[in-house]
Amino acid sequence: MKNILLVLSSPRGWQSYSHQFASHVVDDLKSRHPGAKVVVRDVAKESLPHIDEVFVSGRALPPEKRSPAQTEALAVSNTLVDELAAADVVVLAVPMHNFGLPSSLKAWIDHVVIPGRTFSYSEKGPEGLLKGKKAVVVVARGGVYSERPAQQLDFQESYLRAVLGFIGITNVHVVRVEGVAMGEEALKNAMASAKAQSEQVVREFA
Ligand SMILES: Cc1cc2nc3c(=O)[nH]c(=O)nc-3n(C[C@H](O)[C@H](O)[C@H](O)COP(=O)(O)O)c2cc1C
Repeated sequence: MKNILLVLSSPRGWQSYSHQFASHVVDDLKSRHPGAKVVVRDVAKESLPHIDEVFVSGRALPPEKRSPAQTEALAVSNTLVDELAAADVVVLAVPMHNFGLPSSLKAWIDHVVIPGRTFSYSEKGPEGLLKGKKAVVVVARGGVYSERPAQQLDFQESYLRAVLGFIGITNVHVVRVEGVAMGEEALKNAMASAKAQSEQVVREFA
């Protein structure tokens, strides 16, 4: 394991449960692989632009066919894709916002799902190009979505698995910090369960 990419997306900084547990996972991975380099991308602190018309038209073209404006519009995307492509392990810290992702993380996804770089399309259908990577997704939610009755309202974990799979990242481990808004006892249980899940993930990676 040479490179770890940690993507943070909670606006709550260190108060954030997803941030805390994702950081624990990275620290534990680092202690097992001291030579690994960690790159941190905090999309809540440093907002990414929404994609626009110039971006979308440029995205569909190979780099040498893009206008200067399109090249400029894709510059941030290039940096983010380079970061992701260089990572052996991607750790995503993801709060649930309105049943899905924070819009800041959705913007990151719009910048890294790029034809010719992270996926391709052929007569056989789509193919993810980022093969052989591992991902850890730490989701934090006020309620409980891993079981009924709210299971069908989880557009966070299901979406992330789908989009990571689309770009070729199918080895995805999920740590759930859930039920954090359901009272003191539920919060205590959520923290203990997330700690056990994080430790299990790191053991599986070793
Ligand atoms: C804007 C916003 C929307 C939220 N929407 C939901 C939601 O749909 N379902 C839920 O269970 N919790 C929801 N919550 C609660 C958060 O998921 C919870 O506070 C979680 O801990 C956030 O992750 P973080 O601690 O990493 O910031 C929402 C919180 C905010 C600020």
